[in-house]
Amino acid sequence: MNNIDFDAIAPSALPALLCQAPKAELHMHIEGSLEPELIFKLAQRNGVQLAYADVEALRQAYAFSDLQSFLDIYYAGASVLLTEADFFDMAWAYFERAAADHIVHCEIFFDPQTHTSRGVAMQTVITGLHLACQKARVELGLSAELILCFLRHLSEEEALNTLEAALPWREHFIGVGLDSSERGHPPEKFARVYARARELGLHVVAHAGEEGPPAYISSALDILQVERIDHGVRCLEDPALVQRLKASRMPLTVCPLSNLKLCVVDSLAVHPLAAMLDAGLCAMVNSDDPAYFGGYLNANLVQAFAANKALNARHAWQLLRNSFEASFIDEALRERCYAELDALFIAATA
Ligand code: ADE
Ligand code: ZN
Repeated sequence: MNNIDFDAIAPSALPALLCQAPKAELHMHIEGSLEPELIFKLAQRNGVQLAYADVEALRQAYAFSDLQSFLDIYYAGASVLLTEADFFDMAWAYFERAAADHIVHCEIFFDPQTHTSRGVAMQTVITGLHLACQKARVELGLSAELILCFLRHLSEEEALNTLEAALPWREHFIGVGLDSSERGHPPEKFARVYARARELGLHVVAHAGEEGPPAYISSALDILQVERIDHGVRCLEDPALVQRLKASRMPLTVCPLSNLKLCVVDSLAVHPLAAMLDAGLCAMVNSDDPAYFGGYLNANLVQAFAANKALNARHAWQLLRNSFEASFIDEALRERCYAELDALFIAATA
């Protein structure tokens, strides 16, 4: 499979190796990359009144007890986004950080309903993000794609209308996802809109098994026919499901700092990332909402490894390789990424 002597890589070399390695990010909500400083800058630019006095007061509020307590603040933060330039600036700020983390490919989520419900046009949202993706390709050598997410606390009718409203910009996004409040909003609620998305040739992914039960992962597979599960950490509660995910190499886009900050796990030391890899699952690390959860992709990797000494060089390589295996990229790019990754790890054994 590969001829890397993982035992020859010292644990002390792992943080630098993780940071310098090429990687893909597949689970990052662009609205979750809005740093408090940018929220205040955009609020001032657009004359939006915030409920917090300053950047520090806003940051102080980032103490979450569960997913919903985070979502309430996340939607409030997104209220400063009004113009194409706002969406562009938000995405560009993320791309600069992503390039610094040696991310070579990313597939980023956006939540159009969060904006259209405030009167922002679909065109404004998608064009601003798309222009930033184009610039990232040209100026940073970073390939960036968009995935349109439906808010699962809203109705399927609204999701269907959102998808139709986005179709004039069909070429600007590669897939659809499902996010927001998971409990009480099972995947099957969105069966028709996913069928429509698949008919349109869009990739399909969905959050499942973050707070919701393993049964939500099964129904995302069976009913939505997803190609990736976002989070999926609760699959470990169901051994038969683990076997199914392993056998199909179904990717699970795991987000350690998110799981910690939303109290899905008690600490990074007991995070199931190592167990998922050891079970043969196609898991990789992502940042989810990095501005809210205390770190971008490299911080997630470094902190996960620092907290759990069971994570070793082989795990590091596997996570990074899985990020490319699970990407919606063409095979030529995938092979180039695999080769670059292997070369770096082989060099680290010298
Ligand atoms: N929207 C932004 N981040 C999310 C998460 N972690 N789960 C569900 N919806 C989200
Ligand atoms: Zn997410």
